[in-house]
Amino acid sequence: AGRRPLVAGNWKMNGLRSSVSVVEAVRNGLTPAIHDAVDVLICPPSTLISSCVAATYGSPIAIGGQNLHAKPSGAFTGSISAEMLADLGASYVIVGHSERRAYHYETDDGVHAKALGARRAGLCGIICVGETRDEREEGRTLDIVRAQLAIGVPKGATAADTVIAYEPVWAIGTGLTPTPTDVAEVHASLREMLGRLIGPEAEKVRILYGGSVKPSNARELMAVENVDGALVGGASLVADDFLGIVNAYA
Ligand code: G3H
Repeated sequence: AGRRPLVAGNWKMNGLRSSVSVVEAVRNGLTPAIHDAVDVLICPPSTLISSCVAATYGSPIAIGGQNLHAKPSGAFTGSISAEMLADLGASYVIVGHSERRAYHYETDDGVHAKALGARRAGLCGIICVGETRDEREEGRTLDIVRAQLAIGVPKGATAADTVIAYEPVWAIGTGLTPTPTDVAEVHASLREMLGRLIGPEAEKVRILYGGSVKPSNARELMAVENVDGALVGGASLVADDFLGIVNAYA
């Protein structure tokens, strides 16, 4: 459906100022041919957004946040709004990552509010969904991810303001991945659900796979129907590994 792939790195709570060198190495390693084929995004911790934006100035690499507060400003000590991220030069923000859901009690309604906040500030929100190991073993994967999508995705979402990331919680940081057949089943179901939510625009929205993506499995996972890119955690911290995954599209 002509969806342009997106490979996004999520550094999570990793990286000091010296880590900006990883962004520089990624920038230097990307050829014009790769930029023609794929969008590349790095989401460092908020503390490094400014320096990463500076390090990618004039390159097509996008920089994004990992989380946001739904409101534009106010008495919310320690929080960062979409407007603040945009002001730094970020163009994407991850919304509802499973670690936020697990450790910060984010709900699907909260995800919805944050996705609206991202759109308000002109950021593209990467809305994350995914089942736990227990939920998969109980055969509830599709019910879980479809419900997360139905509540999380705002009305009128478009491909310009919304990306979906399917991240099975049990595959994150574990070295385990679902089979290509399982990934295909979930992504097809998400695409179908998106169609119910936003109509024909659903065909344009990118659905990323995340969870233990590495250079060695990227080509197989990225070749799955309805997989429009990757959300990469651990492997995005090493420039050569991240470039190896981006190269799945070369
Ligand atoms: O946001 C990224 C995901 O949580 C995947 O992390 O690649 O370390 O498994 P991982």
